Amino acid sequence: MAIETTLILCKPDAVSRGLVGEIIARIERRGYLITAMKLMQLPGDKAREHYGEHKDRPFFGELVDFITSGPLVALAVEGDGAVEGMRQIIGATNPLTAAPGSIRADYGQTIGRNLVHGSDSKDSAARELKIFFEANEFVSRKHDLERWIKG
Ligand code: RTP
Ligand code: MG
Repeated sequence: MAIETTLILCKPDAVSRGLVGEIIARIERRGYLITAMKLMQLPGDKAREHYGEHKDRPFFGELVDFITSGPLVALAVEGDGAVEGMRQIIGATNPLTAAPGSIRADYGQTIGRNLVHGSDSKDSAARELKIFFEANEFVSRKHDLERWIKG
């Protein structure tokens, strides 16, 4: 494995339901390091860019409407194998088939309100992180990485 950074979004349903702290607690408990974090309301053009792979799907309009409907929290999360590891913490897209103990299984009911986004590959992570963060918005967690993760 290698140290990776992935994009995590606490979607508007997570912010509205007061679950941001719970989601961040799970990220921290796993030992992953937050290297950027932002509370924001996503503009439509950025939402369409972020979910561009789904632009021809029937649910695309609803997806963009929902992700722009209220504030979300964007996080850059760093760790060994963090892309796959965060997908595991988040759980499968549909809360009904998500593994027990995952965020979507524990807090979600429907596929359209599944609380969290996590990049699905290293390439997606690199593309998506640029949509949400400027290069100067990341902090270095090098010392924490050496002390707690790789130490
Ligand atoms: P995400 O991108 O949000 O982390 O979710 P994901 O990788 O698990 O799922 P993806 O296939 O990328 O779908 C993006 C979001 O679109 C909504 N969706 N609705 N109605 C449907 O059949 C359907 N399929 C997907 C979900 O909210 C999903 O998170
Ligand atoms: Mg996805």
